[in-house]
Amino acid sequence: MKVLNVCGARPNFMKIAPLMRAFQQRADYDARLVHTGQHYDEAMSKAFFDDLNLPRPDINLEVGSASHAVQTARIMERFEPVCLDERPDAVLVVGDVNSTIACALVAAKLHIAIIHVEAGLRSFDRTMPEEVNRVLTDAISDLLFVTEPSGVENLTREGVPADRIHLVGNVMIDTLRAQQALAEQSDVLARLELTPRGYGVLTLHRPATVDDPAVLGGVCDAFERIQAELPLAFPLHPRTRNNMRQSGILARLEAMPGMRLLDPLGYLDFLKLTSSAAVVLTDSGGIQEETTVLGVPCLTLRENTERPITIDQGTNQLVGVAPDRILGAFESVRKGELEHRVPDLWDGQAAERIADVMLKWHTAR
Ligand code: UD1
Repeated sequence: MKVLNVCGARPNFMKIAPLMRAFQQRADYDARLVHTGQHYDEAMSKAFFDDLNLPRPDINLEVGSASHAVQTARIMERFEPVCLDERPDAVLVVGDVNSTIACALVAAKLHIAIIHVEAGLRSFDRTMPEEVNRVLTDAISDLLFVTEPSGVENLTREGVPADRIHLVGNVMIDTLRAQQALAEQSDVLARLELTPRGYGVLTLHRPATVDDPAVLGGVCDAFERIQAELPLAFPLHPRTRNNMRQSGILARLEAMPGMRLLDPLGYLDFLKLTSSAAVVLTDSGGIQEETTVLGVPCLTLRENTERPITIDQGTNQLVGVAPDRILGAFESVRKGELEHRVPDLWDGQAAERIADVMLKWHTAR
C-alpha cells in the first residue's frame, strides 16, 4: 500500500512520527513523507524531526506563511503534481491545520483515498480555523481514525457510515509514551533554574487569544498575579511574540521577576517541562491531551474544547480568558488534588492499530 503521509505544522510532527514508524516496520507499506512547509523555522519544525527521529521528508512543498487562502491554495497547487507523479493508494492527513484540508481536498479531486487521523473532534465553534478544517476534511475522508468516543458520536451524527469510523486511541500519546524516558533526561529545568512542581507553564498561540490586544492584555494581567506566587515558563510561538512586541505587552512581561520568556522549545524539553510542572495554562488543543496523560492540572484559556474527554476523565478545565476566572481556577488547583484517569486506548499503540486497519481495508478494496 503506497501512502503519502502529510505533515506541515508543529502539532503534526508528533502525530506522524509513530505512523511512519509503524508503516516502515511492515513490509506491505510504501510510506512517503510530505512536509508542506507550513512551519519552517528551526524551532517550529527541524527540532521536532531531530527529537522524534522522523525521517527526512521525501518531498517538501516549502509553502511558508501567508493568509489562510493563500497558504491553503499554495499547498494545493504544489501537492497536486506530487499526487499525479507518485500515484499513491492513499493520502494520510493528521489533525486540523491548513495543510490537512489542503492536501485532503487535492486527493479528493484526484479520486485518491483519504485517511484522516484525529477525525471527529468538534468544538462547534466555526470561528476557529481548525474547526472548519476538521469538518471539511472529515466530510471527504474514506477512513476516519478517532481518539475519543465524542468523535464517533459527532461523525455518526454528521452521517458518516459506521464502517469508515475507527476508534483507535491517540497517536500524539504514542509519541509521548515513546519519548517519556528520553525526555526525563532533558536538563531544561536546570537550565531555567526551576524545580519539579515549583513552577507553571504557559503557552498561547491561537488567533482568538493573541490577535486582540485587549484579550492578550487581560490574560497577562492574570499571569502577572500568578508569577508573583509561582514562577512561570512561557515558550513563545512566533505569532505570539510578534503580537506582544507590537502591543507593548512583551516589555511588560519581561519586567515580571517570575516570568521566564523563552523561544519555542523542542519536543523533549517541552515534555520534560510540562511533566514536572505544577500547572499548565494554555490555549492549545494537544496540550490538553498531554497533561491528561501526565496527570498535570491544565487550565485551558478557551470557552470550548473539541477534546471533552480531557475534562470528563482528565485534568483539564475550561477557564476562558477573563483574569478573575483564571485566577480563581489557579487558586483552586493549588489547593486540591485532581482525580483523573487516562482515557481508554491512549496506551501508545494507536499507530499500530491504524496500520493494521488500513492494510485490511486496502486489501478488501
Ligand atoms: C498553526 C495551525 C494551528 C496549530 C499551530 C501550532 C492552522 C490554521 N493553524 O497555527 O492549528 O495549533 O499551527 O503552532 O493551520 N511563523 C513563523 N515560523 C514558522 C511558522 C509560523 O515565524 O515556522 C509565524 C508567521 O509569522 C506566521 C504565523 O507564525 O504568519 C502563523 O503561522 P501559521 O502557520 O499561519 O499558523 P499558526 O498560528 O502557527
